[in-house]
Amino acid sequence: MVQIGDKEIIVEDVHKYFGSKHVLKGISFHLPAEENLAIVGPNGSGKTTLLRILASIYLPDKGSVHIGSYNLVKQTQHIRGLLSYVSPNLSFHKKLTLRETLDYFADLQGVSWKKQKALLDDVDLSKMLHTPIEGFSEGQKAMTRLMIALLKDPQILILDEVTATLDTKKKESVIKYIHELNQEREITTLLIDHDPGVIDRLCNKILMITSGKVMKFGETRDIIKQIPYTFDVKVVPHPSINVSEFVKDIGFSHRIMGEMVQFYAKTKKVVDEIIEELLNRPKGEILEFIVSGLSMEDIYWHWLLLLDIPIENGTKELEFS
Ligand SMILES: Nc1ncnc2c1ncn2[C@@H]1O[C@H](COP(=O)(O)OP(=O)(O)OP(=O)(O)O)[C@@H](O)[C@H]1O
Ligand SMILES: [Mg+2]
Repeated sequence: MVQIGDKEIIVEDVHKYFGSKHVLKGISFHLPAEENLAIVGPNGSGKTTLLRILASIYLPDKGSVHIGSYNLVKQTQHIRGLLSYVSPNLSFHKKLTLRETLDYFADLQGVSWKKQKALLDDVDLSKMLHTPIEGFSEGQKAMTRLMIALLKDPQILILDEVTATLDTKKKESVIKYIHELNQEREITTLLIDHDPGVIDRLCNKILMITSGKVMKFGETRDIIKQIPYTFDVKVVPHPSINVSEFVKDIGFSHRIMGEMVQFYAKTKKVVDEIIEELLNRPKGEILEFIVSGLSMEDIYWHWLLLLDIPIENGTKELEFS
């Protein structure tokens, strides 16, 4: 068994092509043992591809990955024994009940699923044991995938958007459970998630990638704390409106993204002030507005601007004040 301290992850100049498409363009980072990493970036930036390389599902076309002293390409089987990868694409035999499904995967690995009973209870799946998987919601299927990944007591847990379909209560149970696993068994977690709340609580490091390259690698707290707002109000003005005049009139901190304007607020009180301002605008000027909490996308865009990185395939009309 690999010892704690042997679990550091060293990624050096990793490239990946799909046919002629160059998806990862020289990714390098070093994650010390006992640290947990979130990979952040826009759709199509290569997050899942990188996670799948770390899970030894894909092999890099160039560059190297070491987990402790093991080389991912040369010692793939050994590395596979250490980790579990939770893919949103893992499908089930839909006629099998949850109990039969867990029995099947536990038998494959020569373990018992009953040691995960606490998680099953926490996420309200115990009552579903005799229900065929075809009757499960997406959130319940996501929980089942996580349970399957935890069967073999992995030392490295790799999660691709596991919490995306979970409601707040189940998300909370999963965070708590993984956090405890982290503390008790010192597992390493590598994940992709769009919720800063999940990342803040489970990962101490963030790797931001853009178009297959590292944009920023650093401490979660530093990266999230740099963001000067907690909420945003997205507004779609009528196409006949002059957007620059419109934002000048309203006057809160904002960003223009093509036809849409995003106003930023540090507190609920400022959100209310922005809403009041919007409701007082002339009739027909605003098509719709949506209030939401800070997302990882917001954090990504903020860093893109802070680091003055040119935007590929995106809107050029980006303004932040
Ligand atoms: N098996 C594959 N064959 C061909 N192209 C692929 C394959 N897997 C991914 N790609 C391409 O590689 C690029 C990166 O995909 P990837 O799934 O890694 O992105 P992502 O950052 O995880 O995006 P998302 O946020 O949408 O999940 C995309 O352009 C995608 O179409
Ligand atoms: Mg993905």
